[in-house]
Amino acid sequence: MDHLALDVISLCRKLAGFTEEPGHITRTFLSPPMRSVHRELGARMEQLGMSVNIDAAGNLRGLYPARTPGARRVIIGSHLDTVPHAGAYDGILGVVMGIAIVEALTSLRMPFAIEVVGFSEEEGVRFGVPFLGSRALAGTLDDSVLALRDAQGVSVADAIRAFGLDPARMPEARLADNTLGYLEFHIEQGPILESLNYPVGVVDAIVGQSRINVSFTGKSGHAGTTSMKLRRDALAATALWINFVENLGVSTTGLVATVGRLEIEPNARNVIAGQVRASLDVRHADDSVRHDAVERMLKHARDLATERNLEVASEKKLDQSAVQMDPKLVSRMAEAVKSAGYPVHHMSSGAGHDAMILAPKIPAAMLFLRSPGGISHHPDENVLVEDVTAALNAGMHFLEQWETHLD
Ligand code: GLV
Ligand code: MN
Ligand code: MN
Repeated sequence: MDHLALDVISLCRKLAGFTEEPGHITRTFLSPPMRSVHRELGARMEQLGMSVNIDAAGNLRGLYPARTPGARRVIIGSHLDTVPHAGAYDGILGVVMGIAIVEALTSLRMPFAIEVVGFSEEEGVRFGVPFLGSRALAGTLDDSVLALRDAQGVSVADAIRAFGLDPARMPEARLADNTLGYLEFHIEQGPILESLNYPVGVVDAIVGQSRINVSFTGKSGHAGTTSMKLRRDALAATALWINFVENLGVSTTGLVATVGRLEIEPNARNVIAGQVRASLDVRHADDSVRHDAVERMLKHARDLATERNLEVASEKKLDQSAVQMDPKLVSRMAEAVKSAGYPVHHMSSGAGHDAMILAPKIPAAMLFLRSPGGISHHPDENVLVEDVTAALNAGMHFLEQWETHLD
């Protein structure tokens, strides 16, 4: 498997060159470099005897046929989009590994077909709402999502049309009825496996997440002439609110809360900020703890606005429940890791994944690969060749187990 693992890594590095921003890795929903990724991966899939198509949500889909026609199918996938200034492995590694698994079969056919899916969108960068690709398979990419607009005013439906696809054909993107389940390989994006010195980890559950836009509106004015008492400074209020968000995250076990993006109007050194639009991302394994924390954060925003004579508004972009992976597949994955000769570690995921959208529809499993330095959503993101080998070995054992449990 080592040669395949080396190929996987060098292909991920090559695909990192398909970017919207020279010198960085940035690839958002249906941007021009996404077409180059489709072309490159589609050609590899075809060389392996897979039939390739792009569905109406822009997902790359390659089907490796089963031994017999009409057989059921297993999906292996992850996402092809990135955050701005990303690393080379978040998402795309899982797609390239799916193709490597097909290659490892060396033209042998399984009793089920293998569909490798490269999801078009998981990060939520372009439209503020994540998982557009996997929602198309789950059948939840509805008209309200298609109407969302990006910063340039382009809707999801328009972006799909501009890419040469037809949003009216979205129902055809749905999961085939005969799908047996879903497998996703992904870097851990955290430090746990490295601290244990384990190559891979079996994912039991994925934490829930809320994404909300919060805006404070006051009044802009002259920074030199407006007395401190008369100000309605939206940025000063936002700073206090961010501090509250962070403190609540720190003081609540298992909670993570992030304000990662601010848009400040007019954003000038000598002008009091009249409006700030902030993003809020809150995650916890227990949905009720997460909902309670979000309520407290929004209440604090309202209290600050009242104290400081500002207006505050919030818009919920995502309320994604925590999701369990399929218990049968989890225990088979643990068995597969063991049979491949590696130590078994069960863990939950703090990052969101396409698996959490598919898990309510079909049995889903995930295998994490150690992230050197725990680094992710950063250009220094990395993966070790021996860990890719371990994950491919475990993946092959996992598929063999599926062969004997075709239920
Ligand atoms: C996806 O990377 C996330 O933000 O969890
Ligand atoms: Mn990510
Ligand atoms: Mn990811």
